[in-house]
Amino acid sequence: MSCGCVGISHAYVIFGATGNLAVTKLLPALYQLHCAGYLADDVEILGCGRTPFTSETWRAEVRQQLLARDEVETVALDNFVQRLDYLAGSLKDAAFYQSLGEWIGNDGECANNVIFYLSISPDLYVEVTEGLAAAHLLEESQGFRRMVIEKPFGHDLESARTLQHSLSEHLKEEQIYRIDHYVGKEAVQNLLVLRFANLILEPLWNRHHIDHIQITHAETVGVEGRANYYDHSGGAVRDMIQSHLLQVMALLAMEPPVSLEAEALRNEKVKVLQSIRPVDLEQLEMYAIRGQYAAGEVKGQPVPGYLQEEGVAAGSHTESYAAMKLYIDNWRWKDVPFYLRTGKRLQERRSLVAVRFKQPPMQLFQGSGIYQPHPNWLLIGIQPEDAVRMEISAKVPGLEMRTRQIVMDASVSTPGERKAEAYEELLLDVIKGDRSLFLRYDEVKAAWVVVDPVMQRWAQDEQLPLQYPAGGWGPKAAEKIFGDSGRAWRHTLSCNGGE
Ligand code: BG6
Repeated sequence: MSCGCVGISHAYVIFGATGNLAVTKLLPALYQLHCAGYLADDVEILGCGRTPFTSETWRAEVRQQLLARDEVETVALDNFVQRLDYLAGSLKDAAFYQSLGEWIGNDGECANNVIFYLSISPDLYVEVTEGLAAAHLLEESQGFRRMVIEKPFGHDLESARTLQHSLSEHLKEEQIYRIDHYVGKEAVQNLLVLRFANLILEPLWNRHHIDHIQITHAETVGVEGRANYYDHSGGAVRDMIQSHLLQVMALLAMEPPVSLEAEALRNEKVKVLQSIRPVDLEQLEMYAIRGQYAAGEVKGQPVPGYLQEEGVAAGSHTESYAAMKLYIDNWRWKDVPFYLRTGKRLQERRSLVAVRFKQPPMQLFQGSGIYQPHPNWLLIGIQPEDAVRMEISAKVPGLEMRTRQIVMDASVSTPGERKAEAYEELLLDVIKGDRSLFLRYDEVKAAWVVVDPVMQRWAQDEQLPLQYPAGGWGPKAAEKIFGDSGRAWRHTLSCNGGE
């Protein structure tokens, strides 16, 4: 977690520099770090890719792309692009790594500190690591060599093990930064602050007072031209639940760490993930639901169904929606359900945590006028607004003793305050060598242990996932996950939004 300014000389080498992630997230984040004075004057950024750019043409391209964004200032941008260099080549070619070695060696000013960012297809992770190792570019004799690896780390438990084994032949654990950008979001980091910088929640934060917790990540977009990845290696569980939503769950459920130091924090998260009860595959539909969007309308615009998206295999069973009910078998959370759900082409873009508290032991006001028991809810908006709301009951003014729900509402940021993008925080942490927001292998493994059996069972299922019309809140059958508990999804932060 970042604080203070750093001026560490280094080179940021981005593999896949012309790809979507680099263009939309990494370069804008590095630009912001440049503007905020977090990059030492001699920091250079080397883009690597197959597109035959020269450094000059790539600079011009990046300049154009950044100019198209808000908040870009031309003088700062012109200075920023001077940091950029480009190396064209194939990652499968030994000569490419020789040229990279020469660039690093000749550069001289990076103090031999190099960060390699793998913004490439996961199939290439091992090949690139081996290429770098063969060219001696991972050796830390004169400076640090760090590798940032995007999710997914493997596509199931077995492949994650194999990947880890291959990486660890060439890299020490301290050199590996497994990134989960969700953890870098301001509002997700705020979960730690809300829980551990305040005392009021802690006495209530357990099975005695909490009825259940919902974690929702809803999107209006579809596969966005990423069918190649999403249809083959993705799906809602792999793409969102295995990584982002289980990380949010771990932050919500973990015990207070002894410090914010990386290992202390990750030790507590991994304990949560390892305590998740295996899903009961005999009654799978009570624990996990999958869906796929059909054609519909999102924000008034007609959109095609998942199977009609370009690049999606005919009859694909990949789920674009998934909901899971999970239990943590430990002292604090035994028998408190955590409901996780995510979907594409839903009604709104919204991520939120909804915590429902138990009812008071006696309904004192039941006999007085029209009474509706409202449970207390704590709602934490992750995006688009980062807000914290508490729903409580209060007396309706008048002579009768009637109650209604009121909301205590706090926006986390004040208007005009700039929120840092997740990637800014994370790219800076790599420079500083702070791994607290990056995943340790045992966390990734524990998360695969949770979802792998479900994915395997679905893979054997010959039926298509449940179809849901684009623009709604997913398949109706997702309610089944609540059984007859009387619970229901909270879709929004507004009062009675769902219940
Ligand atoms: C990515 C997934 O990790 O997270 C995408 O691959 C998803 O499918 C995205 O859309 C959501 O994150 P954010 O920050 O854009 O809401």
